[in-house]
This record gives sequence, C-alpha cells and structure tokens, in this order.
Amino acid sequence: MTDWTGRRFEVEVGPVAHGGHCVARAEGRVVFVRHALPGERVVVAVTEDRGGSFCRGDAVEVLAAHAARVDPPCPLAVPGGCGGCDWQHASGAEQRALKGFVVAEQLRRLAGVDIPVEVEELPGGLLGWRTRARLAVDPEGRAGFHAHRSHRVVPVPDCPIAAPGTVDAVAGRRWTPGAELEVTLDALAHTHISEVRGRKAHRVAGTGVAVERAARREWRLSAHGFWQVHPDAADVLAEVVGQWAAAAPGGCAWDLYAGVGLFAAVLSDQVGPQGTVLAVESVRSAAQDAADNLADLPQVRVFRGRVEHVLAAADLPAPDVVVLDPPRKGAGREVVEAIAKSSPARVVYVACDPAALARDVTTFAESGYQLTHLRAFDAFPMTHHIECVALLASH
Ligand SMILES: C[S@@+](CC[C@H](N)C(=O)[O-])C[C@H]1O[C@@H](n2cnc3c(N)ncnc32)[C@H](O)[C@@H]1O
Repeated sequence: MTDWTGRRFEVEVGPVAHGGHCVARAEGRVVFVRHALPGERVVVAVTEDRGGSFCRGDAVEVLAAHAARVDPPCPLAVPGGCGGCDWQHASGAEQRALKGFVVAEQLRRLAGVDIPVEVEELPGGLLGWRTRARLAVDPEGRAGFHAHRSHRVVPVPDCPIAAPGTVDAVAGRRWTPGAELEVTLDALAHTHISEVRGRKAHRVAGTGVAVERAARREWRLSAHGFWQVHPDAADVLAEVVGQWAAAAPGGCAWDLYAGVGLFAAVLSDQVGPQGTVLAVESVRSAAQDAADNLADLPQVRVFRGRVEHVLAAADLPAPDVVVLDPPRKGAGREVVEAIAKSSPARVVYVACDPAALARDVTTFAESGYQLTHLRAFDAFPMTHHIECVALLASH
C-alpha cells in the first residue's frame, strides 16, 4: 500500500474518538483527523501513515464549519503547532459534549455499560488553569512543548491554559538544550522550577516543597510529585470520593495509588480514630509525604510499595470500602481481582483514562461488582483529557 503521508483530500468528518481527534473515512481507510469537529467538511493533510487500516491527519482547511467552532485563543494550537491542546477550536460546552461522548463510548464498547455521561465544568473557565507543566528545551535552549506525536520542540512565549507563574516563568530564558523543565505553581503562589538533565534534577527556583490546600487540609509535598494540575480538581474529587465512599465510623478503608494521601485523609475523617485506613503508594517521596501529612491521624497506615505487591503479600485488614486512583494505564486484572477478593461493599474508582476505566470495569463485573454511578469532570480544559469518578458495588 502506498504511503499517504503528505496527501491532501476532502473528507466529511465523522464522530469524535478517544485521543483528541475525529474519525473520517477515505478510500476504505480510517483517517483520525485533528483540528476538526464532527460533521464538518474539511481538507485533511495526512501527517502519519504507518500502513494498515488507518492513518492520521490534520484539518488544514475548513469548508463547512460546526456551529460550535471558535478561533483557538492560542496561535500555536494549529496544525503543525504545539501538541499540548486538542480542542481549542471548540467552545467549552462542545468540548465537554465531545468528552462525554468519548467516555460513554468507551464504557459501551469496552465494558458493555450503556449510560449517558454529562461532563461537569470546574470553576475558572478554559484558560489560565494549569498549575503544573513539563516543558522540553530545543537545540537553541528555548523552552517549549512537543508537537503532536513528535520529538520536535515548539518554543512557546507563554501558554494561555497555564496559570500565570508557570510557563511564563520559564519562557524567554535560555536553558540546557535537550533538558526538561518541571514547573509547579503552588497554592501560596510560589513557583518551583527544576531543570532535568538525564537522570539529574537541578532546582532553579522555589524551595522544592509545594504547599497545597484541599479537603480542608494543608498539604506539603515534593513540588514535582503528583498533585492534580487543575487548582479545583483535588477538592472536587475529594468531595465526590467522600460522598460515595461513605466509610462507617470504626470501619476499614483502603486508598490505593494514594499519592500524598488526599483520599486517605477524607476516609480517615469518616472511619474516625477507632477505624483504619491503609494508603498504598509506590513512589518513595510521595509515600513519605503521605506519612508526614497524615501524621496527626493515627488511624492511617501508609504502605510504600506497588499495589499489586502489597495486596498479594501483606496480611491486610478487610476493607469496607476501597478507593483507587491508578495512573493512566489503569489498575489491571491482578489488582482488580485482588480488590474484589477482599469483598468491600463499595469501590470508588478515580480514573484519568476512560479506556482503562472501561477495561477495569469489565474485570470488576466479572468479579461481581457493577458500575452504579459515574461522574466526569473537565479537569483539563482544551485537551482531550478527562477525570472520571465511578462507584461500583457488589451485587
Ligand atoms: C493518579 S495519581 C493519584 C494520587 C492521589 N490519589 C491524588 O489524588 O493525589 C496515581 C499515584 O499512583 C502511584 N502509583 C503508580 N503506580 C503504582 C503502583 N503500581 N502501586 C502503587 N502506586 C502507584 C503514583 O506514584 C501516583 O502517586
């Protein structure tokens, strides 16, 4: 088959698909089209063709536009530009509708669960929300983001989705070519910057300890360790997790993939001093931060280790409720089966990838747990990313 890279042709754009693009068809092949919206007629330029049933392209000309199309606020959110955003050309309401469609479709196709999904807006709008960023440095020493599916660095003078004090704090300066920059703006409006060369991180600005506020507590954590990037996300997620976990006083709850212990704090308020909360986290600094942040709560025990190992090896008290918040690839069969085997009444699953959530929901269903409630939050406006919270109950 001939390589289509560089070819241009007109297509009718079909539905949105997971990953920040829409599906079109041409000559019997699927084309994943970025910078387009469903129902539009566009000229697509093929950017990547590795053979097989599909290739990838960008909408480089819009012949018939969707009613919700808008001008991207960032001049770099265009074909060939910065790969950081996917939906700057859609209104906020349309972005949430697209993401709701994707979550519903993943659950339907991968888990056989048919539910409508409404994506909820977080406060603060579409711009200026991102408080954590990782940038690359180009051969001339300029900070930027990678182009879509490329190692090419697109230098940026600033970033409209970033909170002031993050990307603007590193743009306009010269850095070590090939390095990476980690930037965090914490709740005290302190900027922490590290330059990462190979395996070594050099602190450039800030103390390296971020202070955050969520779930009615103040948190101190390693500045570039995991924390939600949207300033309202930690609080909103903690609230939903608390409502659905509803752990009883004196009970036992697990917080798996605990980070610095955000949900463990919520659960320990519920079980009280007579109860038990187990927090499991694999990264040494995060587990230490969790132990330090929750030192006033003797009911919390922090285990440093991989969830799959801790659940297999340790003799753990049986949970009434399990909260899990795994990384993008999901928890996987081994962990889901181990949770089900421990027989909690409820499982609250926080997910940053709807496909991984849907796969794990399938395994939970095979193990006797059904999805009963789902909420989805637009915690990453302008990008295709989305945060879901699912409640599963044994049946
Ligand atoms: C999405 S974050 C959630 C953190 C926390 N729940 C929060 O909301 O701040 C996932 C966490 O899981 C940790 N992690 C990743 N793989 C793990 C594993 N196999 N076992 C234990 N922890 C893991 C990461 O270090 C990270 O802190």
